[in-house]
Amino acid sequence: MNPIAQELNETIQNANPTIYDMLSRKGRNLYFPKGILSQSAEAKEKATKYNATIGIATENGVPMHLASVMSYIPLAPDQSLSYAPSFGLLNLRRTWQEHMLRKNPSLVGKAVSLPIVTNAITHGLSVTADMWIEENDVIILPDKIWGNYLLIFTVLHGAEIKQYPLFTSEGGFNLSAFEATLRKEARNREKVVVLLNFPNNPTGYTPTVSEAQRIVEIVVDLAEGGKNVLVITDDAYFGLFYDAQSIRESLFSLLAGIHQRIMAIKLDAATKENYVWGLRVGFITYGTVFKGNPKDAYDALEKKTAGAVRGTISNSPHLSQSIILGSLNSENYQTEKEEKFRIMRNRANRVKEVLTEEKYGHAWDVYPFNSGYFMCLRLKTVNAEELRLHLLNAYGVGVISLGETDIRVAFSCVEEDNIPELFDTIFQGIRDLERERVAMQS
Ligand SMILES: Cc1ncc(COP(=O)(O)O)c(C=O)c1O
Repeated sequence: MNPIAQELNETIQNANPTIYDMLSRKGRNLYFPKGILSQSAEAKEKATKYNATIGIATENGVPMHLASVMSYIPLAPDQSLSYAPSFGLLNLRRTWQEHMLRKNPSLVGKAVSLPIVTNAITHGLSVTADMWIEENDVIILPDKIWGNYLLIFTVLHGAEIKQYPLFTSEGGFNLSAFEATLRKEARNREKVVVLLNFPNNPTGYTPTVSEAQRIVEIVVDLAEGGKNVLVITDDAYFGLFYDAQSIRESLFSLLAGIHQRIMAIKLDAATKENYVWGLRVGFITYGTVFKGNPKDAYDALEKKTAGAVRGTISNSPHLSQSIILGSLNSENYQTEKEEKFRIMRNRANRVKEVLTEEKYGHAWDVYPFNSGYFMCLRLKTVNAEELRLHLLNAYGVGVISLGETDIRVAFSCVEEDNIPELFDTIFQGIRDLERERVAMQS
C-alpha cells in the first residue's frame, strides 16, 4: 500500500474505526498523489521567475489559447482553459457548501466534509462506489429507480441491488418494506448500503416529514444494533418540492453526524438543480461522527475521493465550474431560481389538476408525486411499451415505458398549457390500443 494511503487510513481509523471498516479495498488504497500536482502547487506559490512545472502551455503569462476558441468563451483563459484541481475549485466547493447549509438548516452546526467536485452525479456515484462498495455488496433501493444505478453498481462494480416496494397501497413511502429489507440484509452482513433518491426518478416522490424521520430512525436502529450503515443520498432533483407535506431538506442533513456507525454521503449537482445538464459539475459531501478534530478525518476522505477523481477523469471541467461559481455568486441567482421553480411547480400542479378528470380513472392509476421532474402512470388496460410506440408513431408524443405497466412523463419538458393535451393524447392512445384489441378478437 502506498505510504500516503496508509497515513490517510490511520487518520480515519483514529477518528472512527467503523468508517475505516466501511471503505472498500480500493477506498483503502486510494490517496491523493503528491508528485507533479503538489510540486506544481508549491511552484505556483513560490516560482515567481519561471514556473516550468505545470502540464499546460502558456504564453505571455496566461494559458496559451486559440482566438477562435476564446471567441466562444467570455471568461479569461485561466478561468476556463487551464486545469481545475481534482478536488474542484476551492471557491466553488465553499460556495456550494454555503448554499447547502442555507437549503438544509438541519446541517447547520454539524461537521461535514467540504464537497469534492465530480463530473456530475453519475461520476459521483461511480467515485462513491470506488471508495465504499466491494464486489458482492448489496445496495438497497426501491423498486422504482433511475436505471443507470444498474450499470454503475452491478455491471461496473460487481455489487448486487435488492429492492423494496417504494409505495404502500395507500400511496405513502413503504416504511415497513424499507425496514424489513434493511433488517434482512443486516442479518448476513456487517455493512448495509442504502441509496435514497428524493425527489425520486422516475416517480417524482419525496417522503413526508414524518416518513423521513422514520427512515432515519430505522437507519439509526440498525446502527445501534451494531451494523455499519452507508447511506447515499442522490439529491439530483433537490429543491423542486411542490407540496407542503414533503420534507424540504436532504435526508443527508438528518443522517449526517448522528451516529458513529452511519456514514452519510450526499451526492448533488448543479445539473438539474441549476438547469445545466451538459456542464457536468456535481459534488460529494461526507457526514459522520469523527473523534477529535473531525476536519483531519474529513481531509483524509477528501484526499482519497480526489484521488478517485484524479484516477478517473483527472478533474471536472474548469470552464463549467467557473460558470457555476459565477452564477451562484450572482445577485440575481435567487430570483432566477425562484422564477424557474415557479414554472416547474405550475406544471406539476397542472398535471395534478388534469389528472382529476374522471375518464382517466379507467385507463390508469397515478403514482404519488410531489416533486422533481417526473410523474408515473400505472396503466390498467394496455402494455406500456406498446403504448409508448403507438404514441410515438401515431401522435409524435414521447414518454418512457418502464416494465409492463408503467410510463414516466417528464412534465419538466412540457409547457404548462400543453399539459392537458399531452394527457388527452396518452388517453387517446390507450383507447386506440383497446379498440384494436377488440377488433382483433372479434
Ligand atoms: C436520480 C438521478 N441521479 C443522477 C442522475 C444523473 O445526474 P448527472 O447528470 O448529474 O450525472 C440522474 C439523471 O437523470 C437521475 O435521474
